[in-house]
Amino acid sequence: MNFDLTEEQALIAKSARDFAARVLAPRAADRDVTGRFPVEELQELASLGLLGVTVPGAFGGSEAGTMAYSLAMTEIARADASVSVAMAVTNMAAELICRWGTETQKKAHVPKLVGGPYLCGAFALSEPQSGSDAAAMKTTATPAPGGYRIAGTKQWITSGTHAGLFVIWAKTNPGAASRGISAFLVEKGTPGLTVGKAEEKMGLHGSSTVQLHLEDLFVPEDQRLGREGDGFRIAMTALDGGRIGIASQALGIATAALEQSARYASERVQFGVPLAEHQAIRFMLADMSTALEASRLLTWRAAFLKDQGLPFTREAAMAKLYSTEAATRACDSAIQIHGGYGYTREFPVERYLRDARVGRIYEGTSEVQRMVIAREILKSGVLS
Ligand code: CAA
Repeated sequence: MNFDLTEEQALIAKSARDFAARVLAPRAADRDVTGRFPVEELQELASLGLLGVTVPGAFGGSEAGTMAYSLAMTEIARADASVSVAMAVTNMAAELICRWGTETQKKAHVPKLVGGPYLCGAFALSEPQSGSDAAAMKTTATPAPGGYRIAGTKQWITSGTHAGLFVIWAKTNPGAASRGISAFLVEKGTPGLTVGKAEEKMGLHGSSTVQLHLEDLFVPEDQRLGREGDGFRIAMTALDGGRIGIASQALGIATAALEQSARYASERVQFGVPLAEHQAIRFMLADMSTALEASRLLTWRAAFLKDQGLPFTREAAMAKLYSTEAATRACDSAIQIHGGYGYTREFPVERYLRDARVGRIYEGTSEVQRMVIAREILKSGVLS
């Protein structure tokens, strides 16, 4: 593994950093209050090639690989995590179509996903009664002339209010547990697909999270992704890659928390000296920085393995587990360093903590990551 970035990776990171500083950072606090969905921001991300960093050029992507994607995600999340989650889910949807779709499906959907026309994508796996236990979903896809009729309810659907394309999982064989699940591509506005209740969340206010009602939703057979019964494997492989994105997002939020804390500690004077002169504060900054670098190494390693075409399930789970836990600790320390001010909206650190917290839940809870890691070491050995 090489720690030197390629010219292309450095360029993508710079492009994301410049965009984040110019467009996202000045609006992030306001978006947190208003909950405004980042429509123009996603359009600009698409035009910069940042919605499809890992997607082949033939389908409108930047074809720059997972390391570049991780760097871009980190920069976007450092400015506004709400925008980064829409970017993460869109990239995950585009990647899974590139991997599992037919040529016609790829040509029809991927350029629209990463290039702007769909604005963003959504990943409809979870249901009210099945989150961690994804295979226990109840939504069904029943054969109908020319395709399937889908019925059920999906829960926690990120970007559900604005996504132009939904990847929807449903049981084509309800008796067959995880092997009875199939995946479908459904465009926004398809009759039978209704956006339901929007969740009022603790953080990520600029990201929409909704229920989806699927009622007599007809999906033609040529919009099934992969074979019947492939759906669970498609979801799991997509989430492996997605978890590198969420680890990168956590890294971005933690970076912002550390930067803000170092700045504040240098300016705020207590007991006659800047906070940064107090060992208690210095130790907090040191611990935050050490955990941030450990997160970066785990995340980059998972990205490197994925880019090499090597197995990375365990490493992605480790990166997500560690980085999201470390980010919430770092944001909590950031509030502590800011004292009472940290608990107010005068400083961004309380937003960072609220935004970071869901990283330990979505795209697989920390407990699910531990299940995945344990399963992998017991299957393949302790050293990868
Ligand atoms: N790659 C390929 N195949 C995999 C796989 C992987 N990473 N993980 C599992 N599989 C395969 C298994 O090999 C097995 O295949 P066979 O039937 O051929 O043997 C099959 O899938 C079933 O595997 P398990 O028995 O391990 O499945 P399980 O039911 O015990 O579940 C789990 C395992 C890891 C807990 C899984 O259910 C899981 O990841 N749950 C969390 C779901 C999740 O992350 N949801 C996030 C929602 S999306 C989201 O949050 C996006 C957003 O909007 C921000």
